[in-house]
Amino acid sequence: MCGIAGYIGKKNAAELLLKSIKNLEYRGYDSVGMVTLSEGKISMKKGRGKVSEVDSKVDFSSLPGTMGIAHTRWATHGKPSERNAHPHISASGKIAIVHNGIIENYLELKESLQEYEFKSETDSEILAHLIDKHYSGNLKDAVLKAIAQLNGTYAICVMHQDSRELVVARNGSPLALGIGEGENFIGSDVSAFVEHTKKVIYLEDFQVASIKENSVEIYDGKGNPVSMETKTIDWDVEKAQKQGYKHFMLKEIHEQPQVVRDSISIEIPELEKPRKIFIVACGTAGYAGLTGKYLLEKYTRIPVEVVYASEFRYSDPIICPGDLFIAISQSGETADTLAALRLAKEKGAKTLGIINVQESTIAREAGTVIYTRAGPEIGVASTKAFISQLVVLYKLAEKLSGTEISLTSIPDKIQGILNQEGKIQEIAKKYFRVYNFLYIGRNFNFPIALEGALKLKEISYIHAEGYASGEMKHGPIALVSDEVPTVAIAPRDSVYPKMVSNMQEIKARNGKVISVATEGDSEIPEHSTDTLYIPETREELYPLLTVIPLQLLAYYIADMRECDVDKPRNLAKSVTVE
Ligand code: F6R
Repeated sequence: MCGIAGYIGKKNAAELLLKSIKNLEYRGYDSVGMVTLSEGKISMKKGRGKVSEVDSKVDFSSLPGTMGIAHTRWATHGKPSERNAHPHISASGKIAIVHNGIIENYLELKESLQEYEFKSETDSEILAHLIDKHYSGNLKDAVLKAIAQLNGTYAICVMHQDSRELVVARNGSPLALGIGEGENFIGSDVSAFVEHTKKVIYLEDFQVASIKENSVEIYDGKGNPVSMETKTIDWDVEKAQKQGYKHFMLKEIHEQPQVVRDSISIEIPELEKPRKIFIVACGTAGYAGLTGKYLLEKYTRIPVEVVYASEFRYSDPIICPGDLFIAISQSGETADTLAALRLAKEKGAKTLGIINVQESTIAREAGTVIYTRAGPEIGVASTKAFISQLVVLYKLAEKLSGTEISLTSIPDKIQGILNQEGKIQEIAKKYFRVYNFLYIGRNFNFPIALEGALKLKEISYIHAEGYASGEMKHGPIALVSDEVPTVAIAPRDSVYPKMVSNMQEIKARNGKVISVATEGDSEIPEHSTDTLYIPETREELYPLLTVIPLQLLAYYIADMRECDVDKPRNLAKSVTVE
């Protein structure tokens, strides 16, 4: 959460940093700010709102100079406002900092900094004063002394008006250094600078770096020099553009046939058959994991437990050597998933990461990593990453069971669903003013009901709940009325008659039912107000198809409600604080 960027070189820093924070905006977008240095003087502009909104008021590009730092914020301490926006400047006016993370002992540190006047309500501001207090002519040394006093997580980028260098440090929040020719870049991730260089150093926890235009010096937390490998990243800039679509989310939904094609050829490494599998993740990645449970248990008969990462990490889990811990994460930076992975490693389990972002922290720390092939996912609501996580789980089930699971017909089938977009738009038009939705499914499609509801609530702000259909009678059916429609996932599979009964029960109580049914099914429309069709496939492959109309339904409803689909309120793509 929060995006930080830095530049030092010969170009206009402000123009470059503006582009960087636009690219990082998916990490947080409630306020934004920038500092540049020119002729020994620090100049700052910041404000509340998204990057383009604030830029239209303050004109970031007018900031002078060829070095600077910038920040796009997702508020933790202190509400979104101009004074809480980063950068923060020390009381002396000489030091500017941007920070991503949470300083847990900031109140205690604030006590020790009583001589300084605090201007914001943030935990981050203490960093500016603390570094100022330790500064005696060497910025890197001052940063080393300051971070030794911190508890919590941070990626920071610091500058001093008397020194032509940027100093960065990290612990628990990501930080990448882009290595250029006569210029260097800093970003929370490579999207901040990938147009300028593909050479990257990923800083590790407790490291500090001093970055000048022609040099990058890295130190461990004690100030000893360390050498770090420079990696060349494979990143298609074009893939991170909207390419004519109104939103990234819509583009990413449409990329799914190709994502499945690309993912089918992913190699699954050799794995010993575990005693038990734990799948740990958050949000949509967790629902991919839950689908994986049905699949892995069916094919391998190995027991699978799926746990929210935020619960796993504090639950003293019974996980042993001989167990396989699988972390699923698009970003590879989710704080809870990372903490859960570290705990599983401590307990001696084998660990596997199913990760989309190359070289992300979870990818680097997992014992084995399988990269999904979704490409850059920019829309905050996850779609194509989910489908590629599912493909990896099918392939894992195939590998562990030795049974072939052919997915070759799936891309064309997904394309067939995407071709019915007009019909989905018509249904969205009928329902976009509704306040509450229910989603139901059984067996393989129960996780898809949860995912469909999550997609709708997070981008349209309509209250939506997903349930296992069999649970309806145990409470949720009380919610059914002609004002609360239910999306019922009812393909022709082994639980089909049960789904039909559930739909009849809803209809008998005046509930409207939007069904997702198998093409050619003439019975389902009799129990539904509206029906969306998906092509026929094998029972366990339906999740790869049933999720598609639910993504499109959520998208069109949100768009009709004029919501900011790619940047829903209160959310951020990469949840690097717990
Ligand atoms: C919802 C969504 C989130 C993420 C969750 C985990 O559309 O995107 O629920 O799935 O925050 O993120 P990653 O996969 O980056 O660990």
